[in-house]
Amino acid sequence: MSDEALRNYYRERAAEYDEIYRRPERQAGLRALEAWIPQQLAGRHVLEIAAGTGYWSQFIALQAASITLTDLNLEPLAIARDRVQGRAVFVQADAWALPEAMGSFDAAFAGFWFSHVPLARRREFIAGLNARLAPDSPVLLIDNRYVEGSSTPIAERDDAGDCWQLRNLSDGSQHRVLKNFPDETELREAIEGLGEAGVYRVSEHFWSFMYFTPGI
Ligand SMILES: C[S@@+](CC[C@H](N)C(=O)[O-])C[C@H]1O[C@@H](n2cnc3c(N)ncnc32)[C@H](O)[C@@H]1O
Repeated sequence: MSDEALRNYYRERAAEYDEIYRRPERQAGLRALEAWIPQQLAGRHVLEIAAGTGYWSQFIALQAASITLTDLNLEPLAIARDRVQGRAVFVQADAWALPEAMGSFDAAFAGFWFSHVPLARRREFIAGLNARLAPDSPVLLIDNRYVEGSSTPIAERDDAGDCWQLRNLSDGSQHRVLKNFPDETELREAIEGLGEAGVYRVSEHFWSFMYFTPGI
């Protein structure tokens, strides 16, 4: 089941979402990922989870055989449609119930999504994603590291261990958003028995984690 508050927050944020990609301190890290990510997915049929406004899809699409952008919200997907060139398909889909009818894929990507997955549901998410992928498919997750002075402060850690931020939108509304900052150990635990050959990389502001779905 999806989190309605998270969905609504991103629906309302769609028009201003890309501002995060203009933050000066993140530019070097972004350029490095923009070059590196498409190389890992080149020639693949890529399933993208929670694709949002298609920021990463625009780069992946240049080298992938195809890309299917999924998101629960239509508002960011509409922005992505204008942005993503190449063999791209746009599907409104819940990351927690990925439709089998979308077809089969041999790679997956999720940008800034895993941080919104509750600790208790991480393995459920990985298993659900893997179910849509062929054996030996690369899965690439990227997300934020917590950086003092740049990241929105963590307002609260609940009994389940999940972190929450209070985020403001330009209309003056404030939203309580689940945002975790997993380390390498946590990511490896999330794929234990579900994925192989995990590789964790970090830069100042971002982490990436790539694993492969089990072979036959
Ligand atoms: C942090 S944004 C990431 C957008 C994009 N991947 C990026 O890196 O720029 C999170 C996205 O998750 C979407 N979302 C929220 N709940 C979802 C769900 N249950 N399933 C799929 N997408 C969801 C939001 O609409 C939003 O576009």
